[in-house]
Amino acid sequence: MLKVSVQAKISNKDPLVVFPVFEEYKKKNPLPSAVKKLMDSRIKSKDFKNEAGSTLYTITDSKALPTRILLVGLGKIKEFTPEKAREFGATALKAAQAKKQKKFSIYLTGEFDDFVQQVAEGAILANYSIARYKTGKAKKKIEESFCEAATLISGAKSAGRAAKRAAALAEGVFNTRNFVNDPANICSPAQLEKHARKIAKQIGAKITVFNKKQLEKMGANLILAVNQGSPNGDQAARMVVIDYNPKKSKTVDLAIVGKGIIFDTGGVNLKPTRHIEDMHQDMAGAATMLGAMTTLKKLGVKKRIIGVGPITENSMDGTSYRPSDVIKSYSGKTVEIGNTDAEGRLVLADALNYTAKTYKPKHMVDLATLTGACVVALGEEYGALFGNNGKFQEKIMTSSKNTDEAMWVLPIHPKHEKSMKSDVADLRNDSKHSYHAGASTAAAFLKQFVEKTTWAHMDIAGTAYLSRPKKYEKARASGFGVRLLADLAENI
Ligand code: BES
Ligand code: ZN
Ligand code: ZN
Repeated sequence: MLKVSVQAKISNKDPLVVFPVFEEYKKKNPLPSAVKKLMDSRIKSKDFKNEAGSTLYTITDSKALPTRILLVGLGKIKEFTPEKAREFGATALKAAQAKKQKKFSIYLTGEFDDFVQQVAEGAILANYSIARYKTGKAKKKIEESFCEAATLISGAKSAGRAAKRAAALAEGVFNTRNFVNDPANICSPAQLEKHARKIAKQIGAKITVFNKKQLEKMGANLILAVNQGSPNGDQAARMVVIDYNPKKSKTVDLAIVGKGIIFDTGGVNLKPTRHIEDMHQDMAGAATMLGAMTTLKKLGVKKRIIGVGPITENSMDGTSYRPSDVIKSYSGKTVEIGNTDAEGRLVLADALNYTAKTYKPKHMVDLATLTGACVVALGEEYGALFGNNGKFQEKIMTSSKNTDEAMWVLPIHPKHEKSMKSDVADLRNDSKHSYHAGASTAAAFLKQFVEKTTWAHMDIAGTAYLSRPKKYEKARASGFGVRLLADLAENI
C-alpha cells in the first residue's frame, strides 16, 4: 500500500511534484512563484489549459523548481468537491506510475485543508492491481508499477490525522477488493473464515465461528439448505461473528450482516453462461463487512460493532436443495423454495434473525449482492437502500453523501410483503409475481426476519463489482460500502 506522509514545506529535491491548479490560481492559490511563472508561460503557449481535466507534465532544469512537475487543472475552487479531491489524488498517482516514479509529492495549498483525507484516499486506492496471480516477468512488471510513497505538502493542522484516516480506510477497502476479486477456489469458505480471524485479531475483537454442526444444532436450516450442494471440508457452511467492543459496553450500537455466498451457481435453477462467471463476487456483502471491521481500531471507533457473515457456496449437486423444498428457518418460520437462485435472502434471513435475537442491536444493517433487479434499476451508480426505520435510513444516506458511495432509497410496499407469502408454508423465497420489483420483494422477505430491530438493507449487486470503475477504482471489485460503513460506525 502507498505510504502517505505529510510535510509542511515543498522541497525542490522531491522527484515529482504534482500541483493542483484552480482557475483562480493567480488570485487565490498560493503556489510558489516559480511555478506560477512556469504556468503563465505554458498557458500562453497553449500547452496547458487552465481548466478541469487539463494536465501538463514537464521537466525543468531550474534550481527554483523541482525536476519533474505535473500540473493538474481542477476548474473553479467553488465547484471543488471531496469526490473531485479523490479523483485528483488518483490522477497524481497514475501520473507517477506512468513516469515510473516510485515516490512523489502533492502540493496541497490552503484551499485543500479540508480535502487532505480525500486526496490521500484517491492516491492510495488507485495504487491497486487485480493482476494478483501472475507469475514471472508479468508479476515483476505489475510489482514495479506500484508507487511506494506519497508526500502531502500541507500546512493544515489536521493533515497528519487525515493521512492516517485515509490509510485506515484504504486498508479496509483493499481487504474487501481482494476477497471479492479472489475466485472461489482461492477464497473458499474456509479461507474467508481465516481472513475474518486475522482481521478480528488485528482489531482486538472477539470472534466466534459457528461450524456446520453448530449451525445444525442452532437450527440455522436456511443457511444449511443453501450449503447442501457443497457441504464438506473447506466448503462446509459456517457463520462468523466478530464482536468489536473496545469499551466493554453491554449494548450493541451497530450490527453489520453480510451475504457470504462464495460462489453462486444458482443451484438447481442453474445460472446460464454470461451470468455465472462473475459469481465469485457474491460474498461481497460479507467482504464489505470485513473491510469495514478492518478500519475500526485505526479510526479509533469506541462503539460496539458486531460483524456477522453467513458463509457458504450455492452449488449444484445431487444433494442440493430443490425448488419446492420446504425448510424451517432459524426463526421458526417455514420457507418454500421457489427458486434456488434466490439463496442470498435465505442465508441472510437466518443470520439477521440470529443477530437480532442474540444481540438486540440498536441498529442492524445488512449488505448483499442480492438481486439482478437492483442492477437493472440502478446500474453501477447506486446501491439500493431499504429498511423499516426512516431515521436510520437518513443516517445511512448521510454516510453515503459523506463518502460518495451513492445509495438510493427504494420502497417495501405491503403488497411486496404479500407477494412473498407461500400457499404451503409461511413464506416463499421468490415472489408470486415473478420479477416485478425484484429488489423490493427480496427486501420484503428479509424484513420478516428482523423482529423489532431497527434495520436497513443495502443491495450492492450493481456497485460491488464494476465494469466502469471510477478513477480511484479498477474494474471488478470496488470495495463499495466500506467507507460508508466506517462513517456510519463513527457517527451512529
Ligand atoms: N447473486 C444473485 C444476484 C446478482 C446478480 C448479484 C447479478 C450480482 C450481479 C442472486 O443470488 C440471484 O441470483 N438473485 C435472483 C433472484 C431471483 C431468482 C428471485 C435474481 O436476481 O435473478
Ligand atoms: Zn442466486
Ligand atoms: Zn446470490
